[in-house]
Amino acid sequence: MSGGLFISFEGGEGVGKSTQVRRLAARLQAAGREVVTTREPGGSPGAEAIRNLVLNGSADRWSPVTETLLMYASRRDHIERTLRPALERGAVVLCDRYADSTRAYQGAAGGADPELIQALETFILEDVRPARTLIFDLDPELGLARALGRPDAEARFESKGLDFHRRLRAGFLAIARDEPERCRIVDASGDPDAVEARVLEALQDLPGFGVAAG
Ligand SMILES: Nc1ncnc2c1ncn2[C@@H]1O[C@H](COP(=O)(O)OP(=O)(O)O)[C@@H](O)[C@H]1O
Ligand SMILES: [Mg+2]
Repeated sequence: MSGGLFISFEGGEGVGKSTQVRRLAARLQAAGREVVTTREPGGSPGAEAIRNLVLNGSADRWSPVTETLLMYASRRDHIERTLRPALERGAVVLCDRYADSTRAYQGAAGGADPELIQALETFILEDVRPARTLIFDLDPELGLARALGRPDAEARFESKGLDFHRRLRAGFLAIARDEPERCRIVDASGDPDAVEARVLEALQDLPGFGVAAG
């Protein structure tokens, strides 16, 4: 959509998405840009209420299809209340997870029908789609170990087991393969400075980004 610049951060647990959202926001703000950092599920009061339902409780609390619908209910509220207004104002929006997380978690790893997810994308996202999606890629054993070291009660997905997280990683890599214009795979190994340099490199060709790498 016109006006702002929408960048989404995707990948499994503990790959460093939230860390890199904070770093990039600080860099853009230092360059004088209006930045909105937000997250999914959540990012608006209604969507945060749904987040509590989805991220807490036992691993099998919701079926993949129910989860898909909850995620899309929360996403629609986030779009209406936060994302669309910010983009219409011309802000840079950095979103910690977005629609690809539903494709990967509920679809590729969870088994929800990709046609359902595609239909929801068409009807619910409309034109609120990222110009660039960074897919952070890391061995899930390393990511889960990082995530365990973090004070975080919302561990429902972390508790789903290594097989789930392997399917998840493959699901994200498949999205990057299918949509190479929009997506860039970011090697999430190494220290946060090294990952940040890869993030900046992966954004250089975006019209209107305007923050040099290095
Ligand atoms: N490149 C990195 N190397 C080692 N630890 C990291 C790195 N990036 C982030 N971390 C730490 O790993 C944990 C998970 O990072 P986080 O940014 O919360 O990941 P995500 O949001 O993708 O789940 C945090 O404790 C964070 O401080
Ligand atoms: Mg995070």
